Amino acid sequence: MSAMIVAAWLPCSAQTADQAWLQYRGPGGRWLIPLKVRALGSGLLESSAAQELQRGISKLSSASVLWRGSALYGETIVGTADEVRHAFPDLPVPRDLKPDGYWLYWSGSAGDLKDSGVATHLVVAGGDDRGVLYGAFALLRQIAAGPGIYGVNVKEQPAMPIRWVDQWDNPDGSITRGYGGRSIFFEGGNVREDLTQVREYARLLASVGINGCNINNVNAAPELLDADHLKQIARVADAMRPWGVRLAMSVALVSPEKLGGLKTADPLDPAVKAWWAAKADEIYKLIPDFAGFTVKADSEGEVGPASYGRSPADAANLLAAALAPHGGVVLYRAFVYNNHLDWRDPKADRARAACDIFHPLDGKFLSNVIVQTKEGPIDFQAREPVSPLFAGLRETNQAMELQVTQEYLGQQKHLVYIAPMWKQVLDFDLRADDRATPVKEILEGKSFHRPLGGMVGVACVGRDRLGSPMAMANLYAFGRLAWDPDLTPEQIADEWIRQTIGLDPVVVSTVEKMLMQSWPAYEHYTGFLGTQTLTDITGSHYGPNIEASERNGWGQWHFDDREGIGMDRTVATGTGYVGQYPAQVAKMYESLETTPDNLLLFFHHVPYTYKLHSGETVIQYVYDSHYKGAEEAAELGTEWATLKGHVDPALYDDVKARLEYQAGHAIAWRDAIVQYFLKQSGIPDAKGRAGHYPGRLEVENARLTGYSVVDVTPWEDASGGKAVSCAVAKGCSAEWTWDGAAGRFDVTVEYFDLQGGAAKFAFEVNGNEAARWTADGTFPSRRPHGDNSVRYTVSGVELKPGDVLRVDGTPDGNDPAAVDYVEMTSAQMVEQVRQ
Ligand code: GCU
Repeated sequence: MSAMIVAAWLPCSAQTADQAWLQYRGPGGRWLIPLKVRALGSGLLESSAAQELQRGISKLSSASVLWRGSALYGETIVGTADEVRHAFPDLPVPRDLKPDGYWLYWSGSAGDLKDSGVATHLVVAGGDDRGVLYGAFALLRQIAAGPGIYGVNVKEQPAMPIRWVDQWDNPDGSITRGYGGRSIFFEGGNVREDLTQVREYARLLASVGINGCNINNVNAAPELLDADHLKQIARVADAMRPWGVRLAMSVALVSPEKLGGLKTADPLDPAVKAWWAAKADEIYKLIPDFAGFTVKADSEGEVGPASYGRSPADAANLLAAALAPHGGVVLYRAFVYNNHLDWRDPKADRARAACDIFHPLDGKFLSNVIVQTKEGPIDFQAREPVSPLFAGLRETNQAMELQVTQEYLGQQKHLVYIAPMWKQVLDFDLRADDRATPVKEILEGKSFHRPLGGMVGVACVGRDRLGSPMAMANLYAFGRLAWDPDLTPEQIADEWIRQTIGLDPVVVSTVEKMLMQSWPAYEHYTGFLGTQTLTDITGSHYGPNIEASERNGWGQWHFDDREGIGMDRTVATGTGYVGQYPAQVAKMYESLETTPDNLLLFFHHVPYTYKLHSGETVIQYVYDSHYKGAEEAAELGTEWATLKGHVDPALYDDVKARLEYQAGHAIAWRDAIVQYFLKQSGIPDAKGRAGHYPGRLEVENARLTGYSVVDVTPWEDASGGKAVSCAVAKGCSAEWTWDGAAGRFDVTVEYFDLQGGAAKFAFEVNGNEAARWTADGTFPSRRPHGDNSVRYTVSGVELKPGDVLRVDGTPDGNDPAAVDYVEMTSAQMVEQVRQ
């Protein structure tokens, strides 16, 4: 008998920049690259490029015993295209290198060792300084990922100019929707003294071509614009500058009132205009390469132009005019909606808001304004259709906002590789004017010829980066897709794995498979057929809470009742949202027949008995997808287990513990959704699983000592809606007599690990302790809930009828050692469920 799963243990491995994808371990093979690096110019970014190459090449070549010390006769040269042309007039330097673009070129032959007397020049030429830096990183990526560099002749330019990350950091050091520790920028109301981690972050960002970083929450604290804070923030800009990452800030429109003491912040008021112009001057004196402002206004309590009877264009242009003389831009967020919608109004629809508000303003924005639109019309759900606004603005620059931080996607406790979702969005063809207009081409400026498009990733990186090593694949993927949206998620995964985890083909293919399976698995257990994410939308955004979306003003409704589910957004009978899409796409979503199954309930309200294109009914899909999703989550762990001994042992253990937790939480999700819809629809699972849990012993039916039975809210978050909670300091117990078959079982104890204490548990059979553990994980909630429902499994327990099973729980602080159930699983039972 051995303790198999320590679910509560979710370690945060301290990661430095070198432990992300910039490890430069290389394949350890033969390296033919000139070890001597020379910068032709003396610019800051060129020096960074040269230093990075020196550092990378020497690390990579020291991995190669063969070539160590046998430096090639020649040099690795870095410089702008002009500098290279001047120094090497014979080289075919491309004439059309754009800013940020680069050219990598190998001049010489393979055998150019010292003895041959022929010099090799490996050239990294940039369209500008930043291009030199990106070229250096690209070169190192190519070497580190393994394909080699001999004979290289590559020219690359970024697809879009705006490639930013947004941080939602607050001056107190917290990060809204951040799951990787506290802010690297702020603490206690001020910028931190030690900005080492800022420098490391900027280097990571530069390595994937990200050129801007907005350092503070979109719910912006006005005081960050005061003279003292701006001086502090200038230090952050200094720390990022060597990596070509320009600093941007979120600003509150109300600042002239709050900070400047003006009577109004009306965008058309001359004193307000003057205030912003002076503020911009002040900023640029301190930060000459300041990138610009991001604005959240008229949204979720943030004051905006509507308060003064003005439009978003008035507000955006006010700020744009202040920044224009200095070359800055305004990223004005289209995330503007009324969060006090009337759910009883059949025409009310949050999804409509962005188009309703911004479409009429097309053409009214100044040329340095970029409208920043979330990829879907709601809010980073497990699946949403693409926002129709991308096709709705033809004379306005647009950027797409994506979330790297996994707010609605498991908060980095679940493995979810988001690149496949992003890729679907980027490739989605909106058919504007009945022609091909994929989202990526709109952002690239190809469709409507707007010069300033881009992608913004809400990263929320903290002192532990993203708090999970595998989640870093998303940051990497975001940068790579913003650079080149034609890359595939598989290609990106492959690159990331080779640089980060290892080059062993088995490791690469296994991890790639896991990454690619992870988003579909997550969608299967959290949000079916376009219902978005059935999570606690007014709370943590983490565990299941189906009704949290209903009957409130937030507009994330899915309208389930006893007969059916889904929101009718059609033009014919619904909210009319479908009509915001260009005709061909609208036609597809308007009709039940042509709406894809995976978005059915986003667009239509149907009975549970409605048959999908797959032939299954909606309700049977609910059951099947959740059982499938939980199995897929478990498979991630099984696949990872095959890599024991093939990957770094600390990484192995860390990821293993996370995946075991995820598999358990996927079951909590599965059971919550399945039992809710079983009750709601009254239609049984054709496969007999929903509501039947062979081997499960409910704790409310146990012989309890000290424990009292409590209702869990929402009820679906506990098996049977109930749990037991202990208020007795010396501890409580729950006891059952086993009356099932004799056999060998894995015993799972499903318990609630609350914030504010570390309860202790023990599991005994006939008075013999089989396991003991402490509930010291970090989960969102302070009450028993799907957020903190976790499991501890003891494997290989021999049981026979009459055996007494017992769980002891000792509360600690706010944690009452609450338990949901105990479940026995044998190999035979697993087989039966599968069939
Ligand atoms: C989400 C998120 C908020 C955030 C908002 C935004 O709703 O939960 O914390 O402020 O998005 O994008 O502005």
